[in-house]
Amino acid sequence: MKRISLVLFALMLFTTWQCAKKGPMLPLTKKWEKVVPQQEVPAGLPSLKAADCGICHPSHYEEWKLSTHAHAWSDLQFQAELKKESSPFMCINCHIPLQNQQEYIVKGLIDGDIYQPVREKNPLFDPELQKEGITCAACHVRDNVIIGPTGGNGNLPHPVVKDTVHLSSENLCINCHNAVAVLTPELACTFETGDEWKAGPFADEKDCKSCHMEPITREIMPGFGEKLTHRHYFTGSGIPKFDTVQTTVLNGLAFYPSEVLETYQAGEPLNYNFRAKNEHAGHRVPTGDPERFILFHFTLFDVAGDTLKHLTERIGEEWEWYPEAKKLTDNNLDPGEEVNYRFTPVLQDTGQYRMLVRVEKHRLNKANAEYNKLGDHYPLYIEILNREYTFKVSAEETAGGANP
Ligand code: HEC
Ligand code: HEC
Ligand code: HEC
Ligand code: HEC
Ligand code: HEC
Repeated sequence: MKRISLVLFALMLFTTWQCAKKGPMLPLTKKWEKVVPQQEVPAGLPSLKAADCGICHPSHYEEWKLSTHAHAWSDLQFQAELKKESSPFMCINCHIPLQNQQEYIVKGLIDGDIYQPVREKNPLFDPELQKEGITCAACHVRDNVIIGPTGGNGNLPHPVVKDTVHLSSENLCINCHNAVAVLTPELACTFETGDEWKAGPFADEKDCKSCHMEPITREIMPGFGEKLTHRHYFTGSGIPKFDTVQTTVLNGLAFYPSEVLETYQAGEPLNYNFRAKNEHAGHRVPTGDPERFILFHFTLFDVAGDTLKHLTERIGEEWEWYPEAKKLTDNNLDPGEEVNYRFTPVLQDTGQYRMLVRVEKHRLNKANAEYNKLGDHYPLYIEILNREYTFKVSAEETAGGANP
């Protein structure tokens, strides 16, 4: 009896396994389900690796190394999220976009289900290239040749095919920086930087490249003469991925604080206004990852250094992920949009006061970082403004004088 039930159980297991396997395999359809096909090393080059491009293109390489593109695979948060069962196979396709960087070749999806990819080992998988994330070749190699903006002027160690359409912001950048899809009830992708830019005032004058790859005249390879080139820092928020990486910073917001006097009268309100305007970004601030936010802190201290009053304001989105992904609030600033914060404590006691105004850009909140066990060396935010004012409150009628 025992044996029969065991056999039955085994049979049952077998049939359910068969059923799970048996659905039809459907082809990949969405663009982010597909990878850039396997590339051969272009003629004249030792490998596809960034370090090897760097032998001849040292300045491009040194800049790229500091970019978040170079850390798109090694990023601790990405690695933590990738390990979760809820993360489908195509998470890696924008972070390590070349087939050469991926251990498996995905042939299709059983029943079209993103959690049932049909995989095959990739015999040409290059683990070193994988570590480089969005490496030079991810943008510059297609059909086994180097793609460049000019095509070069002959006589290069590697042939170049000119393709300004491929290298355009519209095709290259937006391909990864715009994805709006609800994949499962708890998993929504919302990177809308491309759409935000197209809807904004910069769409006709400046594109992703004009702001994130600034032009600079220098040598592409030492000894080949100066030309118009582009920075490869891909500077963004400037919040580094590791506390050992020195990132460059771009700020979208311009700040217009109101004046603070040298002396106030007892009983008078401070009347401090702080205006922040999205002046420099070609999209909303923050953009991209919905976990980003900006905090504004206004703190008033008394003579003893104790906090008398504190105000915190926040710009960003708030999401609820369970039971289904839902955006709760969103006060990100459109290009040109501004906010005005008022900090108006009433100054009762006479004496010397100090006020501190700080603005911080955050990549993700502390709770989430702890949940993902990102450790103490994962920078969560940077401070972009720190302004201190000191002033006096006196009993007399002599209030006035501007704070320097
Ligand atoms: C042996 C040296 C060497 C190596 C290695 C090398 N390049 Fe080049 N590359 C050159 C030279 C030389 C030029 C032309 C420089 C000039 O015009 O001033 C060039 C030009 C380019 C251009 C500009 C083409 C254009 O259309 O203007 C791109 C893009 C480029 N290389 C990408 C790469 C990438 C990506 C790698 C690595 C996969 C790489 N190179 C490796 C020597 C090299
Ligand atoms: C293959 C996909 C892909 C392409 C192509 C791509 N990006 Fe990215 N980009 C990413 C990913 C993924 C990240 C985030 C990596 C991370 O945070 O670990 C990123 C990060 C950035 C950041 C930094 C964000 C920050 O502050 O942390 C900027 C700026 C940026 N990209 C601009 C560009 C521009 C401009 C182009 C076009 C020239 C471009 N990207 C092309 C995928 C891509
Ligand atoms: C007019 C200049 C401008 C244009 C055009 C522009 N950006 Fe930005 N971008 C910025 C600035 C400034 C920031 C820094 C915002 C901040 O953190 O204060 C930024 C930040 C970013 C970030 C980091 C996320 C964040 O909130 O800091 C990404 C990713 C990004 N840009 C991608 C793009 C892409 C993709 C395009 C093209 C569709 C683009 N940008 C077009 C100026 C621009
Ligand atoms: C996210 C995509 C991306 C990555 C990654 C990337 N590049 Fe580029 N690169 C571009 C674009 C776009 C241009 C063309 C700018 C233009 O002229 O429109 C360019 C231009 C160049 C040029 C021509 C000169 C110039 O600066 O305009 C060279 C050389 C070059 N890249 C080398 C490299 C090397 C070496 C790496 C890796 C260390 C690399 N690139 C990584 C997008 C990328
Ligand atoms: C369509 C391309 C694309 C796909 C697919 C994609 N990402 Fe990304 N990912 C990006 C871009 C672009 C950024 C940078 C956005 C920014 O900095 O504003 C990014 C950034 C990230 C970051 C860093 C966030 C931060 O604050 O710096 C993590 C973590 C991440 N992605 C995880 C994932 C996971 C998990 C999946 C699968 C569910 C996934 N990605 C699929 C394009 C993609």
